[in-house]
Amino acid sequence: MSLLRLPGLIDPHVHLREPGGTHKEDFDTGTAAALAGGFTAILAMPNTQPPLTDAASLGLAKQAGRSKARCDYALFLGAGSENARAAAELAGQACGLKMYLDQTYGPLRLDDLASLQAHVRHWPAHRPIAAHAEGRSLAALILLAALRGRPLHVCHVSLREEILLIRAAKERGMPVTCEVTPHHLFLSERDASAIGPGRSEVRPRLATVEDVEALWDNLDVIDCFATDHAPHTLEEKDSTTPPPGFPGLETALGLLWTAVRRGRLTADDLILRMHTNPRRIYGLPEQPETFVELDDEAEWEVRGTELHSRCGWTPFEGRRLSGRVRSVVLRGREVFCDGRVLAEPGSGRDMMAS
Ligand code: NCD
Ligand code: ZN
Repeated sequence: MSLLRLPGLIDPHVHLREPGGTHKEDFDTGTAAALAGGFTAILAMPNTQPPLTDAASLGLAKQAGRSKARCDYALFLGAGSENARAAAELAGQACGLKMYLDQTYGPLRLDDLASLQAHVRHWPAHRPIAAHAEGRSLAALILLAALRGRPLHVCHVSLREEILLIRAAKERGMPVTCEVTPHHLFLSERDASAIGPGRSEVRPRLATVEDVEALWDNLDVIDCFATDHAPHTLEEKDSTTPPPGFPGLETALGLLWTAVRRGRLTADDLILRMHTNPRRIYGLPEQPETFVELDDEAEWEVRGTELHSRCGWTPFEGRRLSGRVRSVVLRGREVFCDGRVLAEPGSGRDMMAS
C-alpha cells in the first residue's frame, strides 16, 4: 500500500435535499457521502423545498445542518424573482448567492432581466454569485457582472463555446471563475444509452465528445472541480418524469485520481481545484489538522449499493478506478476509516456561522 496525504477536499456544489427532499438525501447521509469521498467541507445548494430564499427557510437548513452534518458546510442563498434585497441582507450567513438562469430541478429560476439585474446590484461585491447559466444566458450574465466589475462563479461548465467564452473573459481581466463536474469530464452523450434514458438525465446535459475534449484542453481555465452531487432515487430516475441529476461525492476523487495516474493531470492540478481554489473563491476558513489519506495504488470498482448516499446508485456503476480514500481527519479527529464513517451527526460546522 502506498499512502499519500492530501488536504481536506472542498466541494463547492452539493445538493443535500434538506429541507423537503430527505427521501433522496439529508445532511446526515450527504455529509457521510462527502467524508467517504475525501471531502471535509461542502457548499450546499438552495433548491430545496422550500427553497432557501429568506431567513425562515435558511433557518430550517441551518437547523438541519447543526443537528446532522458530519463534515463542515456552508449554505447558498437562492435568487428568486422578489428577494434581491432580503437575500443581500442575509449575505453574511451564506457562502454565496446561487442564480438559476436555465431550466433544471426545482422551482428556483430567474427569467426576467430586471430581477437578474436587481440581484447583481444588491448582492455584496465581496461575496460570490454562483450561476447556472448555459449558452446565451452565460454571455448575458458575464456582461452584467462585468458592467459592475463584480466577481462571478460559473457552475458546471459543459460546452466548448462556454469554456472558450470564460477563457476570453478571463483574458480580459474579468473576475470570472468556473467549475466543471467529473461527469462532464468522464461521460459524454455517447454514454447515455448505457446509463439508461432516465438515469442519464442531468443539467447541463451530457455533451458531445468534442465538448468533453474542449474541457480537458482548457484545463487551465477550470478553477474548481465540483461534483454537483444531485441525488434522486432510482424510482424517480426510472419513472416517466425523471428528475435531472447524478450523485457524485463518492466517485469524484477516484475518477480524477485515475486521470492523475494516467497522466491527464497532475496531483497539484487536482489539489488546486479541489481545495485551494474553492477555499479562495468562497473565502472559507482554514480547517486546521485536516487531511485525507489516499491509497494511491488501490484499485476498486464503483458499486451504487456500497455508497453512503441515500440514493444508492451511480452513473459510473462498474467503472474501475485507482486511488481510494483510506482515512479522513477533520480538525484533529479521525472521521472516516476503511469504509466506515466515524464522525457523529452534528459534529460538522457551519463555516458561515456568525
Ligand atoms: C440539480 C438537482 O437535482 O438539484 N440537477 C442537475 O441535473 N444538476 C440541479 C442543478 O444543479 O441544476
Ligand atoms: Zn447543482
